[in-house]
Amino acid sequence: MALKEGAHIRRIAIVAAIFILMTLFILFSSSIGDSQVAYAPFRMAKNHTPKSTNLKTWATKDDYVPVHGNQRLSQRCRHCALVSSSSHVLGIKAGAEMDASECVIRMNDAPTAGYEADVGERTTLRVVAHSSVSKVARRPNDFMAVGDGGHRTLVFWGPPNKMTKDSKASVYRSVQRICSTYKQVSCFTVAAEKMHRFDNLFQLETGRDRQRSNSWLSTGWFTMVIAIEICDNIKVYGMVPPGYCGNRTESNKLPYHYYKPRGSDECLTYMQNQNNQKGSHHRFITEKQVFGRWALLYNITFAHPAW
Ligand SMILES: *[C@@H]1O[C@H](CO)[C@@H](O)[C@H](O)[C@H]1NC(C)=O
Ligand SMILES: *[C@@H]1O[C@H](CO)[C@@H](O)[C@H](O)[C@H]1NC(C)=O
Repeated sequence: MALKEGAHIRRIAIVAAIFILMTLFILFSSSIGDSQVAYAPFRMAKNHTPKSTNLKTWATKDDYVPVHGNQRLSQRCRHCALVSSSSHVLGIKAGAEMDASECVIRMNDAPTAGYEADVGERTTLRVVAHSSVSKVARRPNDFMAVGDGGHRTLVFWGPPNKMTKDSKASVYRSVQRICSTYKQVSCFTVAAEKMHRFDNLFQLETGRDRQRSNSWLSTGWFTMVIAIEICDNIKVYGMVPPGYCGNRTESNKLPYHYYKPRGSDECLTYMQNQNNQKGSHHRFITEKQVFGRWALLYNITFAHPAW
């Protein structure tokens, strides 16, 4: 009896030991994988030659889907001011100059009220991420109300399962609700097919698969491309060059968003996103490298800082 019990205990001990060894092996091998992935900053593929896409001709009539009715996004502008949300716009006093541009483009829930001297008051086009819809919905009057004779377009982008008519996502219903309240505003969503083309564009430009490299495109990426599609000339305000954060010293910390003075530091946000490959991250710095190339092709200039 005692012998039998001893054998039984030994068997359990062996099974337990094998289990523990396997668990350790799995943990160990996954941590090797992770450390390679987690600490390597995101870079464009080595020796990658960007395959250029002509952004002036790549748009199709189905790229932007009207939220109500059947209008098309047909806006064209000779001169556009693209106002970034960076706190680099604070104190530049470029509001009047921006307002004098034929079209003024803004992003997400970046406000004008209270910041007119620096960022102006007109908005012709606003590009809004799915993750910012709730902020726009909370104070729709700030983003949707247009003065007499004014016209405004909003383009909402998001993953296709959240941003299409047949999706049951609450974020799309929220878009429908705000847009039906403000009839003078033209609302569009980025078509599912176009979302894939934006991913593909990222891959052609960087040599890296957007999803497999755990990258998220930023609202800046969508906005820059849409601006190139509709504007002959673009002046970008408040966007730093790609090397800016690498050279930055501790003393020039600046909030990521001009309207959130206590928010995170811009360079810290950029570097953390660039250096992380676990989870999904924005590649703000890589995107700016691409913008720099596009600037040579599409009449884009950068101001405050100039580059
Ligand atoms: C620092 O700035 C210079 C030009 O001002 C740029 O060429 C260089 O790439 C930057 N350094 C880093 C680490 O990004
Ligand atoms: C650059 O701007 C000029 C003058 O506005 C315009 O004629 C030309 O078509 C623009 N080029 C591109 C590539 O948009």
